[in-house]
Amino acid sequence: MQVWKEFQEKNKDRFLNELLEMLRIPSVSADCRHKEDIKKCAQMVKQRLLEAGADKADLHETGGHPVVYGEKIIDKKLPTVLVYGHYDVQPPDPLELWHSGPFDPVIKDGRIYARGACDDKGQFYMHVKAFETMSKTHTLSCNVKFIIEGEEEVGSENLEAFVRENKDLLKADIVLISDTSMISMEHPSIETGLRGLAYMEVEVTGPDRDLHSGVYGGAVANPATILCKMIASLHDENNHITISGFYDKVVNLSDAERKALNEVPFDEKEYKKDLGVKTLWGEKGYTTLERTGIRPTVEVNGIWSGYTGEGAKTVLPAKAHAKISMRLVPDQKSADIEKLFTEYFKSLAPDYVTVKVIPVHGGEAAVTPTDSVAYKAAEKAIETTFGKKPIPTRGGGSIPIVALFEEVLNVKSVLFGFGLDNDNLHSPNEKYDLFNFYKGIETIPYFHKYFAEMKA
Ligand code: BES
Ligand code: MN
Ligand code: MN
Repeated sequence: MQVWKEFQEKNKDRFLNELLEMLRIPSVSADCRHKEDIKKCAQMVKQRLLEAGADKADLHETGGHPVVYGEKIIDKKLPTVLVYGHYDVQPPDPLELWHSGPFDPVIKDGRIYARGACDDKGQFYMHVKAFETMSKTHTLSCNVKFIIEGEEEVGSENLEAFVRENKDLLKADIVLISDTSMISMEHPSIETGLRGLAYMEVEVTGPDRDLHSGVYGGAVANPATILCKMIASLHDENNHITISGFYDKVVNLSDAERKALNEVPFDEKEYKKDLGVKTLWGEKGYTTLERTGIRPTVEVNGIWSGYTGEGAKTVLPAKAHAKISMRLVPDQKSADIEKLFTEYFKSLAPDYVTVKVIPVHGGEAAVTPTDSVAYKAAEKAIETTFGKKPIPTRGGGSIPIVALFEEVLNVKSVLFGFGLDNDNLHSPNEKYDLFNFYKGIETIPYFHKYFAEMKA
């Protein structure tokens, strides 16, 4: 639509500058030292929603970081789109690997570099600017509600209560989320599934204090060695996961579904080159797309023990720790998997150590339909602005609230992501291409238009 194009062209630089301002706030949800930054960011989101045309926008306190809710109801009889996003970000460490400050956004080669550039400030902000476009040009075709939270990166634990307590407020015909990736700008795609997650922390204890590794080494089991052995035995020689009962509930795809999944454009050579690995790894009997899309995994996210500072210290540590997470697929339930992991991990422990297993957070997998009105509207919107029909894909990441929206609000989601897998999410030098940012802002209003038309 010409009016949208004109409005966006005229306001292009302001849209970007506003995003950059938000990227300067270190809203790291995992780190309590950033509590004030989180709040500042939430307030900014609220303000921006109001400026964009929301009738109301508020901060809602939760047991953790605030949720921002805003809305514009134009006509109760029209369909309602609930936009979900998150203004919190992952910790920026390791800082020394960034080429510029994680909270000092720079534009280089047509890309915005900053923590949160793509995940998810750059992506949810496209919705704020698309909403502004429609509202300022008087072309809104749906009611719009925004729920932008501050705890996605730590498991959305407190959002659950908010959703359960505000079912009416959040009532909608569809949840629209830009927090996933496309294959590439040449191959636009829509993710139709997310994996669940069970995040655990483990602690292995040997002697009751750190020991001199010469005086006692050889006579007392080293918890770091034992922990490594235990972790190593979570996979067998085929890279299947050994946890008893782990695969019991896994939904297996039909041959036709697997075939379709593997027809997605995927260049293994490029993939390896981009990641700097010579060979890929994974569960025997499955392709890379299947390993990341429809199969569950176990990953060590962090491991520490003993002395890791400068120089050398000869010590036999008393304790060893690891953070271990499992990506889950339908119908594995995170609570069941936590139990299975705990029992199995403890069973791996030899007598000379004790093991503690602590569940940290969990979320369920979700599959979104491709035969719904909302999916068709998203497909048509992308076709309009990319000139190509998007390919449905299965994503490997998790957004815990998607399954919950379905359970509590009985509303499905469309994963309308414009990121790329190599945008360095959760990693140093996170980036978001300006092209993707503007393309998203251009495409989103078409979703609203087509969704209203198709629902009518
Ligand atoms: N935006 C990601 C999830 C994502 C990324 C999905 C790329 C698909 C493609 C989200 O912010 C995220 O990182 N989620 C966490 C969830 C966890 C902390 C509960 C994840 O997947 O690790
Ligand atoms: Mn995200
Ligand atoms: Mn993330």
